[in-house]
Amino acid sequence: MEVVLWLIGLCLASAEFAHDYAHIEAFLEQKKFPVRRKYRPMYHIVAPVGWVGYPAGFVFYKSLFHVFYQYHPYNGAWAATHWGHVASKNLVDWKHYPAALVPKDYYEKHGCLAGSALIHNRYLTLFYSGHVISNNATTQTQNVAISADAIMFRKYLYNPVIRTPPFGVGDFRNPKVWRYSQHWYMMVGSATPDYHGKIELYTSTDMFSWNFNKTLAHSFGDMGYMWESPDIIDIDGLDVLILSVQGIEPDGFRFRNSYQTGYLVGKFNYKSLEFEDMEISTTTFHELDHGHDFYAAKTMVAPDGRRLLIGWIGSMNVEVKEAKNGWAHMLTLVRELQLDRYGAIRMYPVRETTKLRSEILESAWYSPGESFRAGYKSFEIQLNATTALRDINLSFEWGVGNQFKIGYSADHRYIGIDRGGHDGVRRADWCPLESVNLRIFIDSSSVELYCGFGEVVFTSRIYPYGLVNVRVGGETNVHITQYKLRRSIGHDKFLLKELKNHYVNKYKAKKV
Ligand SMILES: *[C@@H]1O[C@H](CO)[C@@H](O)[C@H](O)[C@H]1NC(C)=O
Ligand SMILES: *[C@@H]1O[C@H](CO)[C@@H](O)[C@H](O)[C@H]1NC(C)=O
Ligand SMILES: *[C@@H]1O[C@H](CO)[C@@H](O)[C@H](O)[C@H]1NC(C)=O
Ligand SMILES: *[C@@H]1O[C@H](CO)[C@@H](O)[C@H](O)[C@H]1NC(C)=O
Repeated sequence: MEVVLWLIGLCLASAEFAHDYAHIEAFLEQKKFPVRRKYRPMYHIVAPVGWVGYPAGFVFYKSLFHVFYQYHPYNGAWAATHWGHVASKNLVDWKHYPAALVPKDYYEKHGCLAGSALIHNRYLTLFYSGHVISNNATTQTQNVAISADAIMFRKYLYNPVIRTPPFGVGDFRNPKVWRYSQHWYMMVGSATPDYHGKIELYTSTDMFSWNFNKTLAHSFGDMGYMWESPDIIDIDGLDVLILSVQGIEPDGFRFRNSYQTGYLVGKFNYKSLEFEDMEISTTTFHELDHGHDFYAAKTMVAPDGRRLLIGWIGSMNVEVKEAKNGWAHMLTLVRELQLDRYGAIRMYPVRETTKLRSEILESAWYSPGESFRAGYKSFEIQLNATTALRDINLSFEWGVGNQFKIGYSADHRYIGIDRGGHDGVRRADWCPLESVNLRIFIDSSSVELYCGFGEVVFTSRIYPYGLVNVRVGGETNVHITQYKLRRSIGHDKFLLKELKNHYVNKYKAKKV
């Protein structure tokens, strides 16, 4: 029965949208209008042109990893969001694909917002939020689109599958759908009428008709006014709930960004639909990343069992320098997640990231006061010190007096970054045992810093120009390895040809 209903819906949807290749033509056109390359990354996911926002779906389908992201293809500003799309064989080399979702229908007039992607009956299925504003009132609904080739996505004919939020609050978005045993589960981010963030939980037997079951979790007052992009992933027998929260008050060096993404650990009981052993408060909610620009992470389980995460290198309400160049923001490297024995998440770039290394530019010991040149705009530095009992400092310097600093304090057991300017410092407790090991990824205008085994991570935008000089400071000698990293995101000429011949020309031939 389930499969039959599902197929009927699919056929109806296919009939409606089978001849709409506009998004492919738009994609082929875009290649002719390259954006200005200043500040553009070489190995982080960016759109061919336009604005990149939250990761919207992350899934493995037909031998490729697919990442979907919030996307506005016409300039570097946020507006009616599409779903941008890239795919990769190895999690580091990414190819641009045509936009998967373009806002067209009445229920998504002002955007197709982030949700989740999954595979069912060999179809790639997207769940997303339709966004409509009228008379200053926001209406958000939950919708489905399906693809058999990851290129043509058909919106379900009977969208929206959830038309109204259970308690009438307009902010109601980012469906995360997953399957457990014979049932489908959906979490949607929302808020109570008196502005406490919460998650609504739905269940379904066919993924199209949904029953509201309960409010799964909510803020008790200190956890913000709106929860977005909920995600859930089981790691080592525990369930990690990832939330993107608006409105937590800063507390020292915690929660300093405009919005924050963090996690709570518990155990989801599929009988009672309760999160057990999970306390919801700013004491138990830990930020995943301590840098200035990180939000709205998405996870997936790879075929080999690895738990993977990708996030947005961005913050809402922050202007970025490249926006005037026709694009904005990027996504993080793909990170592998683990839980340590205290229930804390460790995040580390997937091992495939070493495939980006094209040349070793430096491998030597440095004493405090010495410095070296960064060879290129996009590089990786691995820093090793044999003791954790001495301060370690590194500053990246350019122009006259501009710098980005990394500092480890042995006395106070913290590590911090300082990009200068207003609110430039971010800091997190970190207690390495015997040695200090840092991996630093600079990609033109972003930095990702991974400490130790991924206990602490920082992601921030920085805007160096000209050649960067790296100065070693602190109180001990450090071993530095510098790698040049290669370009790994771009168009694929075979895919472009295939799109042109197989989809567009065939379609045109048919029309004549
Ligand atoms: C919408 O809100 C703006 C700003 O609050 C206000 O200027 C405008 O008049 C409102 N429009 C409607 C149709 O209520
Ligand atoms: C969820 O709600 C539906 C509809 O009310 C109900 O049939 C189902 O049993 C509920 N699921 C659980 C696990 O309580
Ligand atoms: C630096 O430390 C990392 C992590 O322990 C290790 O993999 C790497 O080989 C070390 N590099 C050098 C040059 O010792
Ligand atoms: C090195 O970094 C630590 C941590 O940020 C800081 O406390 C210390 O003052 C820095 N030392 C120098 C010489 O900059």
